[in-house]
Amino acid sequence: MRRVALKALMEIERGGNSSAVLERLLRKVKKRNTPFITELVMGVLRWRNRLDYAISYFSNKRLNRIEPEVLNALRMGIYEIEKMNTPEYAAVKETVNLVRGSWRRSFVNGILRNFIREQVRYPTKDEPLMFLTYTLSTPEWKALRWLEDFVIEKSEKLALYYNSTPAIYLRVNRKKTSTESLIRLLKREGIVVDKCKNLPFCLRVLKGNPRFTSALKNGLFYVQDIASQIAGFIASEIGNTVWDCCAAPGGKSSHLAEIGFKVFSSDISLPRLRLAISNFRRLGLEIHSFVADALRPSVRRKFPLVLVDSPCSSMGIIHRAPEVKWRIVPEKLKELSVLQKRILKSVLRYGEKVLYVVCTQEPEETVNVLSDFNIEELPLPGDIKKIPFLEKEKILYTDPTEIYSDGMSYALITK
Ligand SMILES: C[S@@+](CC[C@H](N)C(=O)[O-])C[C@H]1O[C@@H](n2cnc3c(N)ncnc32)[C@H](O)[C@@H]1O
Repeated sequence: MRRVALKALMEIERGGNSSAVLERLLRKVKKRNTPFITELVMGVLRWRNRLDYAISYFSNKRLNRIEPEVLNALRMGIYEIEKMNTPEYAAVKETVNLVRGSWRRSFVNGILRNFIREQVRYPTKDEPLMFLTYTLSTPEWKALRWLEDFVIEKSEKLALYYNSTPAIYLRVNRKKTSTESLIRLLKREGIVVDKCKNLPFCLRVLKGNPRFTSALKNGLFYVQDIASQIAGFIASEIGNTVWDCCAAPGGKSSHLAEIGFKVFSSDISLPRLRLAISNFRRLGLEIHSFVADALRPSVRRKFPLVLVDSPCSSMGIIHRAPEVKWRIVPEKLKELSVLQKRILKSVLRYGEKVLYVVCTQEPEETVNVLSDFNIEELPLPGDIKKIPFLEKEKILYTDPTEIYSDGMSYALITK
């Protein structure tokens, strides 16, 4: 099990995506071992800065001089001891067995035994930046931003939230079933769900994994975070025809088609568009789908609404993809901001209104992008008004620690 976890961590370190790497490697593993491996890999990625702080505490070698495989094995061992209730002797023995060579083994053994014997003194809230960066494992640039925007208590809440396992939400496919009958059907398959407050057709999973149910295969629901479901509901207030120009894998397009929109979906990537098309089929939806670069689309008509669910840093989903937080740096945000502006300028020619949605709340990708455009107040239907959003300059942001959602931003642009 631990060897698979280490292999996954090494692949992710070389640029892999955590969900994709885990999905592939876990296919070859006994089903009962998958929760342990997933927890170990995702935990190490989430808590990397804290684990490295502990390793530096005891290591006579600088972290960048430790071989990557040995460093990842050490991170795993410390994570198991600190957060996974593995008996200490077993965590040490199994971690030492992961590395080759007597010198490496005694190095790992020594650090883990010191970690067990001696308490690491992690930075406390008296040093807020160090506390967020190391104790709560947040990139320093991101910790600084939180401290500029919020008091330390809220920053701490955000850091803990983004280091936790995210909730799973389902969107009921109203074209095929009703909320009540889906709840009953899922219960028969051992999945317990609860209705989301203020958001119709949204269910939160309390127990079980809905990904292996017949209800999923039969297209009775789509797995989609509450923040993305909110985007669909906002769009539902604007017209009844939409061009979703960054559509794959089809979450928002399919939502709008379920609501009754005529939907045109395009994406720059053919493999990703194929994924969207298979989702539309499963859900029983007819959606006109085509490959197009939103920067140079071969579109000949105008739409009342264009949806731009733009490529972005994904800093609002680092609880799902924790490797992202170690890859993104502010310079990268500036590059993305240029692309986002270019996409918006390009598609504004085809739409009366453009709904801009991103799974990030960084200023480069929100305020800075939108400063060149005419922004309108977002229309919020029904009970969505009761959801506690954050709002600045007509841009709406989810408050993830209040509604347990992704960190998303929404804005409506007019000509
Ligand atoms: C955030 S994802 C969209 C998620 C989707 N709307 C959903 O709800 O399932 C962004 C998408 O934009 C696509 N993309 C990136 N650059 C693009 C471009 N220049 N034109 C069109 N699509 C692009 C990516 O392939 C990716 O599928």
